[in-house]
Amino acid sequence: MIPLALAAGFVALLLALLARQLGRPSGWFGRRVMASLLNAGNRELLDSVLEIVAPTPGARIVDVGFGGGYTLRRLAPLVRPARVTGVEISEAMVSGLGDGDYDLHLADAAALPFPAASFDVVLSVNTIYFWPDPARVLAEVRRVLVPGGRLVLGYRSRAVLQLNPLTWFGFRLYDDRRVGQLLAAAGVDCEIRTPRSGERIAIGTKR
Ligand SMILES: C[S@@+](CC[C@H](N)C(=O)[O-])C[C@H]1O[C@@H](n2cnc3c(N)ncnc32)[C@H](O)[C@@H]1O
Repeated sequence: MIPLALAAGFVALLLALLARQLGRPSGWFGRRVMASLLNAGNRELLDSVLEIVAPTPGARIVDVGFGGGYTLRRLAPLVRPARVTGVEISEAMVSGLGDGDYDLHLADAAALPFPAASFDVVLSVNTIYFWPDPARVLAEVRRVLVPGGRLVLGYRSRAVLQLNPLTWFGFRLYDDRRVGQLLAAAGVDCEIRTPRSGERIAIGTKR
């Protein structure tokens, strides 16, 4: 019989590996498995975010941490003649998406590779948990938005995520108050919506 401590250690190791893949998918597993899991598992929240983004032809939109690329595929035909932009820290996510009707950048959200006032909308979903310095990312988001531009930030609440053992491995969890404080400190007016229980969408408008 496997000793209990050994079994618990094995489960903890699996959870830690999966949590790391969520934060930065890598290798074959990231490209083939995580991309599909992310697109399927987050679809409802991603659809709610897209509804708020309300893309129009010519809109300049960037998804920071696009993962499996569901949003980019949905947005690409809707913003033509503009091209939707994606930023990812994961090489597997960039190479996995391949060539398409979008501009992809391998970069860190904390150092966005764009001039100031490049975008009408910055969206980012299920990514804030992995930012070591959210204030720095939000300062970058603000910098690349045009005045009056919007940040649409999708996330799951601390209350829900803390019940999921995966999040015990390196996730940073947020409640609405903290997200509101971070956006306000970044110079972004903030409204938080609840599309479904546990899901949140913070909508920030650059002052
Ligand atoms: C849980 S996935 C979410 C993907 C997608 N937005 C979704 O909701 O399905 C988090 C993604 O954010 C990316 N990411 C994490 N930290 C990042 C950073 N500092 N800069 C850019 N992308 C980052 C990861 O590589 C990963 O693909």
